[in-house]
Amino acid sequence: MPFTAPDLVIGFPDSEPAAAGLARAMGLPLSLAALHRFPDGESLVRLEGAPRHPVIVRALDRPNDKLVELHFLADALRERGAGAITLVAPYLAYMRQDMEFRPGEVVSQRVMGRWLSGLVDRIVTVEPHLHRTDDLAHVFPGREAHALTAAPLIGAWAKAEAAREGGDWIVLGPDEESGPLVDSVARAAGLTGLVARKERRGDRDVTVTLPDGADIRGATVLLVDDVISSGGTMIDAARAATAAGAGRLLAAATHALYDERAADAMRAAGIARVISCDGVAHPSNAIPLADLLLGALGH
Ligand code: R5P
Repeated sequence: MPFTAPDLVIGFPDSEPAAAGLARAMGLPLSLAALHRFPDGESLVRLEGAPRHPVIVRALDRPNDKLVELHFLADALRERGAGAITLVAPYLAYMRQDMEFRPGEVVSQRVMGRWLSGLVDRIVTVEPHLHRTDDLAHVFPGREAHALTAAPLIGAWAKAEAAREGGDWIVLGPDEESGPLVDSVARAAGLTGLVARKERRGDRDVTVTLPDGADIRGATVLLVDDVISSGGTMIDAARAATAAGAGRLLAAATHALYDERAADAMRAAGIARVISCDGVAHPSNAIPLADLLLGALGH
């Protein structure tokens, strides 16, 4: 069933460029929700008007305050009579905790599923870190859910760069979970894809091991992952690739969540350049997601 046509795009101060781009592309007006943070940490959200079918645009990285503000806004929109509400969250937090890894852990993916399903009718996101759940619709019961992949866009970027710079190029994923993304990027780029193994001992403590027999000597190795957060995964993948004789190291991620310290550490590990998609605003952004998101919104 076609989704009710949206009539307004709403952004937050941190998502203004993405929201404005989407509003322009959809030919819709844009409103910005204003935020005030009280000295005690509470949030005040302000948005005038009563749209019927709004599209809210906000990446949910560093999510805790953003989720509360989203809740306040979506609830207020319902009070004012909104019908179908769409959430475009290019990065969707809390998807990776999809089971109780250790006794007593809260399965945050399930909580998020029920929470957001109670707020909005349609959710659009990119590379949502689903590994044991094969369909985002299972996370958001009764809601329309779109999990998009940026792999073709990253692949097209890699293809153009490889053609421009020449030499041998290899796409390398740091762990088994990156396998599907790496396969699709490599296919779109017309390059060979390899997938390493990763042992994670702590938030910043990982060891990446290249697949047996991987010959990457002298090649430009493009490390590809869905998210760069602490940078630890990319840094250890770079160490392994350098030890195996890689000629040059680049990295690409759908979502860049890392800070300047991690950027320095990745540079020090020999990664010449990191590029990312622009769902989360970051200095490494090089690949726009607007057309991909637009396609999912039926425009
Ligand atoms: C893990 O499963 C993800 O796909 C990424 O490899 C991970 O989130 C990267 O995190 P960090 O940059 O902190 O190593």
